[in-house]
Amino acid sequence: MLTDRFNRRINYLRISVTDRCNLKCKYCVDGKFPFMPHSEILSYEEIIRFVRVCSELGIRKIRLTGGEPLLRKGIEFLIKEISSIERIEDVSLTTNGVLLEERIYELKQAGLKRVNISLDTLRRERFKYITGFDEIDKVVNGIEKALEAGLKPVKINTVIMRDINDDEVLEFVSLAKNLEVDVRFIEFMPFGEAGFWDEKRVVTSEFLEKYISEFFELEPDLNSDKGPAVVYKIKGGRGRLGFISPLSSHICSECNRIRLTSEGMIKPCLFSDVEYNLKERLRNGVTDKEITELVIKAVRDKPKDKEEHGQIKKCQRNLRHIGG
Ligand code: GTP
Ligand code: 5AD
Repeated sequence: MLTDRFNRRINYLRISVTDRCNLKCKYCVDGKFPFMPHSEILSYEEIIRFVRVCSELGIRKIRLTGGEPLLRKGIEFLIKEISSIERIEDVSLTTNGVLLEERIYELKQAGLKRVNISLDTLRRERFKYITGFDEIDKVVNGIEKALEAGLKPVKINTVIMRDINDDEVLEFVSLAKNLEVDVRFIEFMPFGEAGFWDEKRVVTSEFLEKYISEFFELEPDLNSDKGPAVVYKIKGGRGRLGFISPLSSHICSECNRIRLTSEGMIKPCLFSDVEYNLKERLRNGVTDKEITELVIKAVRDKPKDKEEHGQIKKCQRNLRHIGG
């Protein structure tokens, strides 16, 4: 079992499989969008080896992220291989949903258990403005298909930004009321090369919760799985609402995860710039025992919380390399 200095049990590994994306969200990238050369990102064999070693240490859940993970060719192969590793119980995906519609059954067949889909607006023109592409229909179809395929719970990640999409909050709540989905509002975090982040654009979970409560009756969902979101049921609704508050509150004490970036760096904490170079070691003949030691060290070095490594604003890396 992997336990850190603060007695947190680490059983969740997030893997960014590519830094490429088929959308260009304003808060993530600006005009230019340099991709890493293929040789710089970890191969499937390298990822599978790492997951196998981690599974022997106590990792049980794997989430594949990006960039956009469905852009990486043969992701079904990776899902199938990881799902078949003994002790791995849950393989999930965080995606922008554009390619989901056409791939969902292959993904499910490969062993995918569930998906989290990013969607910041329900309006066509605004979707184009935020993401740079007219793909909202595909995302909506992707959500429907994921529900149809029984990949439950389907979670929708929504970043509310003041004066950008804050007039859609109640529409998103209605979506969670009408469909069996978890809509999760994520506080806007200061990542990204785009310089789009501004404190004035942040809408806190506390504010949203109060505002939504004026229109909907929310009750805490005590059965929800442990994760970064505080989850509520909506009275009379089919789905649920979640609030992820990386800026305004401490979810760090519950943290159960480590990350692997697309270029093969182990990241003990989303908000810290401390990383361990796995790729270099993998390509220089590292043994499984040495990988084990590296993971144990990375877990031991997990900071207590985001403040331990200075202010959250100082994050160097872009989320498309880390995967959120
Ligand atoms: P599940 O709970 O397994 O469904 O996944 P998740 O909600 O952790 O994954 P997802 O990729 O959908 O992430 C949603 C948001 O939560 C993203 O903005 C992440 O950056 C944020 N998040 C994920 N892990 C952490 C974490 O360890 N700490 C903080 N503060 N935020 C996180
Ligand atoms: N702040 C908050 N959430 C973000 N995401 C991407 N960039 C940011 C940001 N700056 C979200 C995406 C995705 C999840 C992994 O992270 O919408 O759903």
